[in-house]
Amino acid sequence: MKFVPLGRTGLTVSRFCYGAMSFGKEADEAMSARLFNRCLDAGLNFFDCANLYSNGRAEEILGRLIQGRRHNLIITSKVGFAMTDDPNDSGLSRRHIFQQLEGSLRRLGTDFLDIYFCHTDDRLTPIEETLRAMEDVVRQGKVRHVGISNWPAWKIATALGLAARHLWQPVQVLQPMYSLAKRTVEVEILPLAQAENLAVISYSPLGGGILTGKYLPGQAAPQGRLTVNKMYAERYAEAVYQDIAKRFLDYAKRTGVHPVTLAVAWVAANPAITTPILGARNVEQLEPSLAAADYEMSPDQWREISALTPLVPVATDRDEERTA
Ligand SMILES: NC(=O)c1ccc[n+]([C@@H]2O[C@H](COP(=O)([O-])OP(=O)(O)OC[C@H]3O[C@@H](n4cnc5c(N)ncnc54)[C@H](OP(=O)(O)O)[C@@H]3O)[C@@H](O)[C@H]2O)c1
Repeated sequence: MKFVPLGRTGLTVSRFCYGAMSFGKEADEAMSARLFNRCLDAGLNFFDCANLYSNGRAEEILGRLIQGRRHNLIITSKVGFAMTDDPNDSGLSRRHIFQQLEGSLRRLGTDFLDIYFCHTDDRLTPIEETLRAMEDVVRQGKVRHVGISNWPAWKIATALGLAARHLWQPVQVLQPMYSLAKRTVEVEILPLAQAENLAVISYSPLGGGILTGKYLPGQAAPQGRLTVNKMYAERYAEAVYQDIAKRFLDYAKRTGVHPVTLAVAWVAANPAITTPILGARNVEQLEPSLAAADYEMSPDQWREISALTPLVPVATDRDEERTA
């Protein structure tokens, strides 16, 4: 396993991160332990989690697994989504951040998080309120670095400017969605990350499973996330995603490489991506993702695979006269 710098944090992380979203849900505690141990065997030192995952249970399971080796691991968690139907039990207010961080630390059995992510875009709370709260938890020693997930680029740029002006802890790590099926981040977020030397740990490299080949039309629908989870089913419902998957799977067949390996390797080969976050419900699923660590994707192959998806429009009205 290769190791890479995590942006400007001074941390060094494995080229792949493992996401614990399936812990306590599709993977019971025994399977979660097998997944975790397989990741350690493969050389991963980087694990992503969130308070939201199985309503805290994923953190509890991960917390038990990291005991005795916390010192060697980089652990994240996130705050922002609603945890109950109490109107103040969601979002990125100082109140919710302070409250949820305590819960995450307790469940994970650790006294600090390496990275604490704003999990979602809270449109009610001013950015200053969120960043000041993050500054405080960093000063308290409970969080080492601040991350942002699922914010638009303009808001991340605003946060960078505010933190610089007020000398608050800067945002250093981004966690956007990125796969061959979902390439919106290429327009603004990845260029922003490169310009500002932000680490990018991207999620859903398999498009929630659509790039694995198990959801092709004409085939019996398997018991997978895109059939049982309404939010994911809607996210990939448009015909364009089936078309991309079909072209990609045909390509993978021609090359003789497992589509999961190819899909993860394609994400990892983007120079703006620090590490993709892998997801699996069992070790069998995880293996072809891990195999991407040893897959050297040539620039030509990266371009061939990139050409299988429609180009994402640029974010300006005119792009033909730019100087570089
Ligand atoms: N910040 C955020 O908002 C956010 C959002 C989502 C995820 N994440 C993070 O990113 C991590 C990975 O995201 P993700 O789970 O969406 O990634 P993904 O790679 O797009 O999807 C993983 C899912 O694909 C299916 N799969 C994986 N390998 C397979 C194989 N070999 N054969 C068949 N199916 C396979 C499994 O689901 P089924 O078996 O159910 O089909 C698995 O759970 C999460 O654990 C979490 O840490 C963050």
